[in-house]
Amino acid sequence: MRAIYPGTFDPVTNGHLDVIERAATTFNSVVVAVAVNPAKHPTFTMEERVEMIRESCQHLDNVEVTCFTGLLVEFAAQVGAPVIVKGLRAVSDFEFEFQMAQMNRKLNPGVETVFLTTASHYSFLSSSLVKEIARLGGDVSEFVPAGVLRRLREHQAQGAA
Ligand code: PNS
Repeated sequence: MRAIYPGTFDPVTNGHLDVIERAATTFNSVVVAVAVNPAKHPTFTMEERVEMIRESCQHLDNVEVTCFTGLLVEFAAQVGAPVIVKGLRAVSDFEFEFQMAQMNRKLNPGVETVFLTTASHYSFLSSSLVKEIARLGGDVSEFVPAGVLRRLREHQAQGAA
């Protein structure tokens, strides 16, 4: 069965990668879908976000990375994925994720949401915190893949992160 793992991924963290790896061992194939979402004013362009995930998933044969606009359930149907994978870090993630899962079911009852819990050592990790720590000169090397670290440093050098 094919699953879709959507997100903003601005940028992808080791926590996201943990979920991708779990999904890749649980499902036959996984589509990592980067939401274009201009309303969120992402730090990284859509191309950069896709590229960073591709670089980090090279070891996973059954994972492909793409971007999407519009409704997630429509894109899931388009790519033939009857399952949406979401990662849960803590109980605080649950309320909004539950709301989205119910809404997505209402929009398309044929698409099921499955929650995977992240490894506990990533439970405090978020893209926003990683960006803030990097901007303030902190070490984020244990939280993100090497390609992301390099781009965060480049953004910082350009004064844009
Ligand atoms: O990484 P994020 O920001 O938590 O991801 C949120 C995302 C992209 C999964 C969510 O905003 C989404 O599904 N967007 C697509 C538009 C859509 O279908 N909205 C209705 C959701 S019920």
